[in-house]
Amino acid sequence: MVMLTEQQAQKTVQVAEVGLDTVALRSQDWDRERFDIEYALEHGTTYNAFLIRGEKVALVDTSHEKFRGPFLEALRQQIDPAKIDYIVVSHTEPDHSGLIGSLLELAPKATVVASKIAGQFLANMIYRPFELQIVKGGDQLDLGNGHCLEFIMAPNLHWPDTIFTYDSASEILYTCDAFGAHYCGERLFDEDLAEFETDLRYYYDCLMGPNARSVLTALKRVQPLTIRMLATGHGPLIRHNVVEITRRYHDWSQKQDQATTTVAVFYIADYGHSAALAQAIAHGVSKAGVATEMVNLNSTDEHEIQALLSRAAGFVLSTLPALGEQPNPAAQALGSILAAGNKKQLAGVFESCGDRDESIQLIANQLRDAGFIEAFAPIRAASEPTSATLQLLEESGTDLAQRLTREKVVQQSKSLAPDLDKALGRLAGGLYLITAKRGEVSSAMIASWVAQASFEPLGVSIAVAKDRAIESLMQVGDHFVLNILEEGNHLPLMRHFLRRFAPGADRFAGVKTYEAANGGPILADALAYLECRVERRMDCPDHWLVYAVVEAGKVSNLEGVTAVHHRKVGNHY
Ligand code: FEO
Repeated sequence: MVMLTEQQAQKTVQVAEVGLDTVALRSQDWDRERFDIEYALEHGTTYNAFLIRGEKVALVDTSHEKFRGPFLEALRQQIDPAKIDYIVVSHTEPDHSGLIGSLLELAPKATVVASKIAGQFLANMIYRPFELQIVKGGDQLDLGNGHCLEFIMAPNLHWPDTIFTYDSASEILYTCDAFGAHYCGERLFDEDLAEFETDLRYYYDCLMGPNARSVLTALKRVQPLTIRMLATGHGPLIRHNVVEITRRYHDWSQKQDQATTTVAVFYIADYGHSAALAQAIAHGVSKAGVATEMVNLNSTDEHEIQALLSRAAGFVLSTLPALGEQPNPAAQALGSILAAGNKKQLAGVFESCGDRDESIQLIANQLRDAGFIEAFAPIRAASEPTSATLQLLEESGTDLAQRLTREKVVQQSKSLAPDLDKALGRLAGGLYLITAKRGEVSSAMIASWVAQASFEPLGVSIAVAKDRAIESLMQVGDHFVLNILEEGNHLPLMRHFLRRFAPGADRFAGVKTYEAANGGPILADALAYLECRVERRMDCPDHWLVYAVVEAGKVSNLEGVTAVHHRKVGNHY
């Protein structure tokens, strides 16, 4: 964990003019620690809000509830909150809308502007009467002095209620979560893309990739606009790389969308941590090259469910515990699912806040009795899910996706010309075991595509298949151990680690290890080990090529030789 300076430990709000009559208020959360999967890089985050002054005044988004004091104080220094005419809600997740209730106490006459779905959610979030203006795509709100706000529907980026807002006077597009990054720094803008591009990509993979088709739709909608700046809800504001980042979003999304297999993920946006848990599953599915479509059960209907199920190869359903009279959207959707589902589909169920509840089992039984194939045992996530729970969900998603694509992978592996296949097979590699641990989550992987890559600093390169569980623990800045296996002593370890582990299973049960200085597990029976820190990752079609700096290492047997992997063909490991 990075030690925070006193200033960083404080909750600060950075205020700066960022465009014509437009001020950004960036709540700087240096030490954001949350279980949500997209925060795993641990670079903190910012919650960005924007004040636009025409003849009327609009505030686009607010901040997280924990910034109540600093945010409202920073706002007061800009304007008497009672003079705010409109509060635009990009979507209702609490990191951006957590202070709307507090703000309305100071600005009781302000009108809240939101999509129809957001309006429904807001009614359950704000316990006082307020003016609400529902907007749809193409609607305009004239603030005067040339600031005419236009609204663009951007559902599923990443919540069902998301809208973008465009101000033609400043040519700023307010995108909230889209194009953002969980990266907290003093820099207001994106002049140094290299500084946060890993965070940008990881954030995309976790939050936007599972909704790639919706990203492409939103990009098409904003294409006619002249965009000087993307005013994102998290991280640096995008002024220098508008074209580059929108291009990356397009390319990443197009690649995801080209996947021919789709898994539907049904979640309940306003219940417990259902959305975050669904995100973890969807991320796991995407890692295996399978597309996902996320659907909020509170804002869908049976036609949408049926249409999606007709093209999905599998689905995951989020449910909630039986609590008194509380309606359960999952139970309500079950009828449509049972009617529309193809009984060859893989199906999984998870429950948010349901660590002791039995109702999830009833739904799982109904699906099984109807003939669906159980993708994984029902998962009950406690009210505050741990990183181990998230790992379980992510691995369950990957496991489901791998089952769906296994046949295709085998077919592809037969498609090389025989000579080429054999020639490629003459590339030999050593046998290694990569191990990593972050908090309570650990993982391991047999590797053979490993090579020294630099002298100064000492570095190695390792190719890691994108659907490997350990890939999540090998992000830039993460630490791992490269265990080098010994010829003649490697088979028991190979047998152990080549087994197919169930999602969330402890890979090290029954294996003798001790802890490296960097926290990773060292195998007691390894010939040697190297402690490494990930410096860079290169995106190859089906692997990440990880470049890591070697920080320490040791040999246990100076006479020993490294075990070598000789292959016959090159189209699989
Ligand atoms: Fe940053 Fe979806 O909230």
